[in-house]
Amino acid sequence: MASGYARYLAAKTTVDDRALNRHVLAELRRLMPAGAPRVLEVGAGLGTMVARLMDWGAVGAGEYVLLDADRQLLDGARRWLSDWAVARDLRGELLPDGLQVGDLRVRLVHAELGRYLQAAHGALADVLIANAVLDLVDVPAVLPGLLRLLVPGGVYWFTINYDGETIFEPAHPHDDQVMRAYHRDMDERVRYGRPAGDSRTGRRLFHYLRAAGAPALAAGSSDWVVSAGPDGNYPGDEAYFLRSILSTIQNALRSREDRVEPGDLADWLAVRGRQLAAGELVYIAHQLDFAGRSPG
Ligand SMILES: C[S@@+](CC[C@H](N)C(=O)[O-])C[C@H]1O[C@@H](n2cnc3c(N)ncnc32)[C@H](O)[C@@H]1O
Repeated sequence: MASGYARYLAAKTTVDDRALNRHVLAELRRLMPAGAPRVLEVGAGLGTMVARLMDWGAVGAGEYVLLDADRQLLDGARRWLSDWAVARDLRGELLPDGLQVGDLRVRLVHAELGRYLQAAHGALADVLIANAVLDLVDVPAVLPGLLRLLVPGGVYWFTINYDGETIFEPAHPHDDQVMRAYHRDMDERVRYGRPAGDSRTGRRLFHYLRAAGAPALAAGSSDWVVSAGPDGNYPGDEAYFLRSILSTIQNALRSREDRVEPGDLADWLAVRGRQLAAGELVYIAHQLDFAGRSPG
């Protein structure tokens, strides 16, 4: 994946910081084993979550595995995390398969999730994390295998699961048409030869988790809310984040002329682009977070 995607994930950090549900996070902290747990994060991307959890004092020692199907992103993660550690004055050391950050050993694993679940694995994890990932996979198919990566009674924290509602303000006459088509594209997406997405993953996770014998012990909303400050500037790199969201919608719909007229899509994108440049665009995406324990 191009480095533009790495910049999108870095820009998303401050958006996720605000969005992550604090009630569910408190439950994660309560459930988390003391000492030096073994944490596995799937679809970890650039590794911004491990940095956040160290910043927030939720993780500090043990092993933290970043698993992702995108090798370039994992290479980027090594650099991004080592720069982050330097900025925090943390003792850091690059290792052949990852890096050491203070007392935490970060390991990078390049694997596609479906294939990873089919293979045999060594040590099980105490904590399993997936942030902004489960809405990109076939949850009923992968969830039982995912939970088997945990020790019995191990802790999961599944966050930023999209739940079928996006709001752009000010309203535009083509909003409903564009979002309906975009959701349909998400629902029909195939990646790595498998179904890869569900625009209503958030609400469906209540049922999927229960069916897998791991009902949520805490759940709550983690909506992305992005708007410019009083000076008309978006915080951090969030203008880039919004540009990426608009490009994602454009790329998904550009060949879907049966769903959105090219002229309507072009008009919608042009208006949204001008509103973004003027600091007038507000973006809200509804998402849900969950924490609980694996069966047993
Ligand atoms: C939206 S990004 C989120 C990245 C990171 N969790 C974050 O929040 O910044 C989704 C990530 O999941 C990875 N991914 C998607 N499908 C995957 C799969 N089937 N197996 C492994 N990784 C996958 C992508 O490469 C990407 O890094």
